[in-house]
Amino acid sequence: MNNILLRKKSISDMLETSKSHALKRSLGALDLTFLGIGAIIGTGIFVLTGVVAAETAGPALIISFILSGIACALAALCYAEFSSSVPIAGSVYTYTYATMGEVFAFLIGWDLMLEYLLAVSSVATGWSAYFQSFISGFGIHIPKILSSPPGSGHGGIVDLPAILIILLITALLSHGVQDSARFNNLMVMIKLAVVFIFIATGIGYVKPANWTPFMPFGFHGVITGAATVFFAYLGFDAVATASEEVRNPQRNVPIGIISSLAVCTFLYILVSLVLTGIVPFKLLDVNNPVAFALEYIGQGKLAGIISIGALAGITTVLLVMLYGQVRITFSMSRDGLLPKTFSHVHPKYKTPFANTWLTGIVAAVIGGFVDLTTLAHLVNIGTLAAFTLISIAVIIMRKTHPDLKRAFKVPFVPVLPIISAACCLYLMVSLPALTWKFFFAWIVFGAAVYLFYSRKHSQLSK
Ligand code: ALA
Repeated sequence: MNNILLRKKSISDMLETSKSHALKRSLGALDLTFLGIGAIIGTGIFVLTGVVAAETAGPALIISFILSGIACALAALCYAEFSSSVPIAGSVYTYTYATMGEVFAFLIGWDLMLEYLLAVSSVATGWSAYFQSFISGFGIHIPKILSSPPGSGHGGIVDLPAILIILLITALLSHGVQDSARFNNLMVMIKLAVVFIFIATGIGYVKPANWTPFMPFGFHGVITGAATVFFAYLGFDAVATASEEVRNPQRNVPIGIISSLAVCTFLYILVSLVLTGIVPFKLLDVNNPVAFALEYIGQGKLAGIISIGALAGITTVLLVMLYGQVRITFSMSRDGLLPKTFSHVHPKYKTPFANTWLTGIVAAVIGGFVDLTTLAHLVNIGTLAAFTLISIAVIIMRKTHPDLKRAFKVPFVPVLPIISAACCLYLMVSLPALTWKFFFAWIVFGAAVYLFYSRKHSQLSK
């Protein structure tokens, strides 16, 4: 029994298979950095910051960003070591299959659905907020009942714009329109421009008095804030999923992961300083804090431009997350751990058509009916669990595959990966009890799927 559960894929076999299905290796370090930024900057910074500043962290929002940035940086180093030694598409799921065995790989793939699938839903609710802010500039207002989820305090029943944008992205992806590097680079430029405009304009209006009291909700609030804004950093792991399309991946993937994270951390720190410096934190409890802050200082025109930029920026995050989710269930299905429907390729569009639509519809329903904070917490718990495992896996991999060529090595193993795992666990325990209950139920459900389906259908068992 033990042997079955811990059966592993061989790394050399995987490298051989990936060679025979070779994808074109066209991406360099700069493309990857852009890919990372494209996947990272989105609803987290444009939307979540407001609620976190108003309700949990206050002006100490910047400390929350620094703390979760550190946790991400440590996890990013571990990601970088893996992707520099096992440069195969599929990210953590694939790595875990090679190092910790099938049952862990399944559970991590299952767990990653929380990250990617729910990220699609939550990022779409942020898109909806900026869309509404944008059209309100033309005097168009969608009734709250149709534009906010139940329980959000606005008397809403469903968030229709969130549903519609997910279905639109699903339609694009299912027909094979992938965000090409050039399109992504353009969107990233727009997104960066918007962030720079905000910082450059806002900085002149900062009133240091707005930073006191600095920690109105105590240090506990700051940590809870860190566990929430962690969401804003997610996406750098998407760089690792492109490994098979990268020139010299052993060098470029670690550079891409670490530099995209570094750029975003720097920008987030500046944005949170400026945001809390120009608007009293209590007023930030809005869905579009960045645009709101500019309106607050009388820069209404710029606020409109920011809304358009935010919409463009958030759209790329949606594309990457939906694509990432489909790739994970696609790989799991190809390995026999999920039903074949998920890896069926459409004869005409050459995409996992059914998988993309199934995923898109589920994400749309969730995005239409659940509020952003609840969703972001679920995304975070799933991702933090994955980061914890990947940190531990680095240590295991050093023992089990000591001779594997690693272009990038995490320094101070095992100390650094242990600190990384500890930071992730610390952030996880700062999340609400309800999030934990749901997480637990999701993992138990996954374990049942593995026991009753995947174990028997696994390709490795054949
Ligand atoms: N980091 C991504 C965002 O903030 C998930 O939208």
